[in-house]
Amino acid sequence: MILGVLLLASSVTALPLAQSFSSSLKGFLGGKSKLTFDTKGSFKVLSLSDMHFGEGEEVTWGPEQDRNTSIAHANILDNERPNYVVFNGDLITGENVFASNATKYLDQLFAPTVARNIRFSSTHGNHDNSLAINHLEEIEYEQAHYPTLSYTRSDVGPKPFGCGNYWVPVYAKESDFVPAVIMWFFDSRSFVSGHPGGADGPTPPAANFHWVDEKTVPQYIKQQCNLMTLVWKVVPPALVFVHIPVQKADILAPLPSVGNHDDEPDPATQGFLNETYTGLDLPFWNALVEMDGGRGRVLAVTSGHDHGESWCARATASSGVPICFNGHSGYGGYVTEHSQVRNGRVFALNLGDLAKKVPVVRTWNSYENNTTNDEVLLGPDYMVPLS
Ligand SMILES: *[C@@H]1O[C@H](CO)[C@@H](O)[C@H](O)[C@H]1NC(C)=O
Ligand SMILES: *[C@@H]1O[C@H](CO)[C@@H](O)[C@H](O)[C@H]1NC(C)=O
Ligand SMILES: *[C@@H]1O[C@H](CO)[C@@H](O)[C@H](O)[C@H]1NC(C)=O
Ligand SMILES: *[C@@H]1O[C@H](CO)[C@@H](O)[C@H](O)[C@H]1NC(C)=O
Ligand SMILES: *[C@@H]1O[C@H](CO)[C@@H](O)[C@H](O)[C@H]1NC(C)=O
Repeated sequence: MILGVLLLASSVTALPLAQSFSSSLKGFLGGKSKLTFDTKGSFKVLSLSDMHFGEGEEVTWGPEQDRNTSIAHANILDNERPNYVVFNGDLITGENVFASNATKYLDQLFAPTVARNIRFSSTHGNHDNSLAINHLEEIEYEQAHYPTLSYTRSDVGPKPFGCGNYWVPVYAKESDFVPAVIMWFFDSRSFVSGHPGGADGPTPPAANFHWVDEKTVPQYIKQQCNLMTLVWKVVPPALVFVHIPVQKADILAPLPSVGNHDDEPDPATQGFLNETYTGLDLPFWNALVEMDGGRGRVLAVTSGHDHGESWCARATASSGVPICFNGHSGYGGYVTEHSQVRNGRVFALNLGDLAKKVPVVRTWNSYENNTTNDEVLLGPDYMVPLS
């Protein structure tokens, strides 16, 4: 109702109002350069997840596995030459590091991307919340030390364990006012106890949640989408990143999709507490599905967390929204049979693909051994929907 009144008002004084609402659109990039598609209409995003830096800092294999992770990233970056890198959670094995220098591992993690002058941002995982580190500390360190290249923000969500919720626009060209695509990033909270001595510490009650905050985030998504409609007349297609998969992923896991399926049946995924599914991840999921009135413009929702999963699937059960897994982009963390060659997931966005009635995106896995695999075009023709 309020929006209706504002729309009427905006037809009288269109420009000043649009400008004032632009400032409430959180993704407007004060002081940062605009992300734009190249002259061929392409914008490539590389998502890396589950690096688990700092896992063994006082044993020889620890620094060695972190160096291996950096080499893997360098190979994938040089092969793919992405325009943007997403670090999709579990950047650090927080329960194994010292609080005094934990954030320093972010410098090692970002180094290959920074050396290539590529812009980036992060989501955070269950291992990034521990007795030694938390999501807010990682976000503040990244913002303070990478003010030019990092686009990570904290717009909304409970601090300090669940505040990495934000979005970043990508424009077809520099002079455009309306973005061609929005990258959305969400914080699935959770906490891993324990410390280098091996003993478990208590999980703070404020961290004992395993889903995107249902109190603040759905409301934020709705508010930002309403403002986009008001200011831009459109909610642009969305590419979504969140560390822990939504529970809907379990339903899609048995579908015959290309990519690794080593972790099935999945361990307790998003929305579980005390080994019971709470349903509390659904307000976030429903807000994604309803982003633009349910017109199917969510290109993909991509998660890490399950290192042995690197597939994409969509079905009626996911309201037609493709759900993707990232695979394993680090030498830290557990390894499954088919995740020994580390990979990242690439999204090759293209303006022609985005202009389709139902926008589509091409995606594949890119491996540290300089090969790619599992390419699919995510969209209405991808897979036969299961009911
Ligand atoms: C690092 O990579 C080398 C070369 O692939 C391998 O031999 C070694 O086992 C790896 N080390 C660790 C700790 O992962
Ligand atoms: C943090 O301190 C520990 C203990 O001194 C050391 O082993 C480790 O290499 C340090 N980590 C970083 C990233 O500086
Ligand atoms: C989960 O288990 C803990 C410990 O038994 C209990 O204190 C807590 O209330 C439980 N939470 C829910 C939502 O059941
Ligand atoms: C690289 O690794 C992938 C994934 O394990 C594998 O399918 C492929 O055969 C490997 N390629 C080479 C050249 O080793
Ligand atoms: C992948 O390419 C890098 C950079 O050229 C090279 O150092 C590395 O040996 C290659 N790996 C494989 C498995 O071919």
